[in-house]
Amino acid sequence: MPSSSSPKPFHDTVRALQWCEQGLRVLDQRRLPNVVEYETFNSAPGVAEAIASMRVRGAPAIGIAAAYGVVLAARQRYRETPDTWKDAIEADLAVLAGSRPTAVNLFWALDRMRSEIGAIEGDPEPTLLQAARFIHEEDIAANRKMGQLGASLLVGAGGVLTHCNTGSLATGGYGTALGVVRSAYRQGVTRIFATETRPWLQGARLTVWELEQDGIPATLIADSAAAYLMKTGAIQWIAVGADRIAANGDTANKIGTYALAVAARHHGVKFMVVAPTSTIDWRTETGASIKIEERGQNELLNDCFARPGSVITAWNPVFDVTPAELIDCIVTERGVVRNPDRQAMMVLADAG
Ligand code: MRU
Repeated sequence: MPSSSSPKPFHDTVRALQWCEQGLRVLDQRRLPNVVEYETFNSAPGVAEAIASMRVRGAPAIGIAAAYGVVLAARQRYRETPDTWKDAIEADLAVLAGSRPTAVNLFWALDRMRSEIGAIEGDPEPTLLQAARFIHEEDIAANRKMGQLGASLLVGAGGVLTHCNTGSLATGGYGTALGVVRSAYRQGVTRIFATETRPWLQGARLTVWELEQDGIPATLIADSAAAYLMKTGAIQWIAVGADRIAANGDTANKIGTYALAVAARHHGVKFMVVAPTSTIDWRTETGASIKIEERGQNELLNDCFARPGSVITAWNPVFDVTPAELIDCIVTERGVVRNPDRQAMMVLADAG
């Protein structure tokens, strides 16, 4: 991990997921920015728990971690029962699939790993490790491509706002929306704003930490300051990531994204979604059928009310759906879809 004084020529130094002989090294995102600590997981249930507990988070990173989880499952199952490991591993795939519901990249990565399993003869680890590494590398390459495409739309913009954390911590590296911000920064867009992203503070704890590691200056705002920021004219674009994009372009992303899109339309600020095509769920017609994760009340409730007998409860949906008509463009590694709807999105399916 670089120190804040080391040179950062490429504005891209953080890697939250690293494969090593013992298993998957995971940067614990619950402890950032105060503690930078990696933990190694050597089993599929361990990786599932790392996802469920949000040590690993962000749609593409969840998919990549799950792919490495399949490698660990195969290692163990093949060692235990070399003749029946292909049946036994189904239980591990189910545990990984149950770790979080909204990010479709998880299910996409598991499907891809499962499709490798059928043809394997002998020790599965080399084949599956190669497949997981490929998913990881492919994600970084997609992010760089999206960075280029998205930044080209931001040329001449005075400022950009981003929400949640969509950077190296949330992906294989570089990031989706934060990758666009990185690329735009190199092109001279220097007024970068990040929301706090309550209640988990992905913006206040992770995005600004990551930007500081890479020497990119940014201004943090309270979520509730976003509409006023737009009114001041300081930003021309909002760039966000996605956890699942329906076939018509409706986009599930971190709670608060929908409110930003509504306010952006009111203020004439452009709204960009940045996501690899692995985040598009072609089987989901519209955002109405995307499952929205609700997390525990205690992420919201002050300790004072999080006690038995209190009459105060909390509702904690951690994603929302932004309708396609509020999105100006969806940037993917296969190209940019402007004014997304079902028909416009089909270009991406064809490009695959
Ligand atoms: O609950 P999280 O932190 O996993 O939510 C993450 C987001 O909503 C991100 O914006 C999304 O996954 C895109 S990450 C490139």
